Amino acid sequence: MRSSKFVVLVAVLVAACGAPAAGRQSRPADGALVGVTMPTTSSERWIRDGENIKRDLESRGHRVDLQFAQNDVPNQVRQIEDQIARGAKLLIIASVDGSALTAPLQRAADARIPVIAYDRLLRGSQNVDYYSTFENFRVGVYQAESLLTGLGLRNADASRGAATGPFNVELFAGSADDNNSVFFFNGAMSVLRPYLDDGTLVVRSGQTEFQAVTTLRWDGETARKRMEEILTTTYRRSKVNGVLSPYDGISLGVLTALKDNGYGPGFPIVTGQDAELGSVKSIIAGQQYSTIYKDTRELATVTALMAEAVLKDRTPPQLNNLNDYHNGVKVVPAFLLNPVSVDRTNYHRVLVESGYYTDDQLR
Ligand code: GAL
Repeated sequence: MRSSKFVVLVAVLVAACGAPAAGRQSRPADGALVGVTMPTTSSERWIRDGENIKRDLESRGHRVDLQFAQNDVPNQVRQIEDQIARGAKLLIIASVDGSALTAPLQRAADARIPVIAYDRLLRGSQNVDYYSTFENFRVGVYQAESLLTGLGLRNADASRGAATGPFNVELFAGSADDNNSVFFFNGAMSVLRPYLDDGTLVVRSGQTEFQAVTTLRWDGETARKRMEEILTTTYRRSKVNGVLSPYDGISLGVLTALKDNGYGPGFPIVTGQDAELGSVKSIIAGQQYSTIYKDTRELATVTALMAEAVLKDRTPPQLNNLNDYHNGVKVVPAFLLNPVSVDRTNYHRVLVESGYYTDDQLR
C-alpha cells in the first residue's frame, strides 16, 4: 500500500542528503552505470523488482545493467564480474545464495565499488555497504497469525478464536541459503510454538526443525513433492488442516499436492508471501488462504534513494535498523519496510486500491 507515511518518508529521504561519508571524495552521480542482479525470472516478483529499480534509477539519470541469474550461482558471479569489468559505480544485488558471492564482492571492494544487498542479505563478507528489505521477522509472525486466524484459533482482532483444535499442520520454510528464510521461520515459530507445545497444533510428520522443512531455491515443485510425500505417508487416516508456507510459489505447489490427494473444495489453511498474481487469484477462489504483500515499488524507490546517496558518497539517510542484520562478519545497516497481511477480506483494498493490480488482472 502506498501509505501517506511512505510518501512522507520518501520526501524526508529525498530532502535529507545525508552527510558525506568520512574520507571519501565526492563523485558526480550523473550517468553512472549501476549493476543490478536479480535471482530469477521464475517468480514474477523479481521481474517487477528489477524493472522498478531500473526505471527508478534511469529516471534519476543513471544507466542500469539489469541481469537475472536464473537461480544459478556461477551465472550470478559472472554477471557481477562483468558489471565490475564494465565500470559499474554501484552494485545492487538480490542473491541466489547469500553466502556464495564473497569473491566477486571482494573484487568490487578492490575496485572501490559499493554494494547494496537487495531484499536478501549478502553473508560472510565485509564488502556489503547497505541492505534494503522488509521487516522479515514480522513477515513470519503475520504468516503464523493468519494460519491461526484461518483455523479459527484467533480472531482478526487478535482475540482468542472460538475453535479449540487440535489441528494438524505441516510446516514449510524457504531456501536454506537465503538469510530471509531463517527470519520468516523464526517469526512464525515465535507465534506457533505455544500452540505446538500445548498440543493445539500437531505436526504429524514430526518435521518441525528448520533444516527439515526448508525448500531449496524456494521451488514450488520441490514443495509439491514434499507435501505429496507427507500426505501419502502420514495422512492416510487423517487430514491436514493447515500448512505454514513462506512463499506463494511454495503455496501453489502445496495446493497441487493437496488437490492430487483428494482435498477440496474446502482446503486446509495455506499461507504465502509476495502477493503473486496466481496466489491472489487462488485466494479469491477460496483455495490459498492468505499471502503477505510486500510492495516492491516501495522497495525499489527506497533502494534507488539509497543508491543515489551512495553514488554521491553520502551515508543514506533514515537507515532504520542498525542491529539485526549481522551477516556473519559485520552488521549491515538496513532500511526495513513494512509488510501487509492479505486475505480475501482485504485484498481489494490493499492490492487493487493501491494500484498494485487492476481488477482486470485478478479476473
Ligand atoms: C525471499 C523473499 C521473499 C520471496 C522469496 C522467494 O528472499 O524475501 O519475498 O520472494 O525470496 O522468491
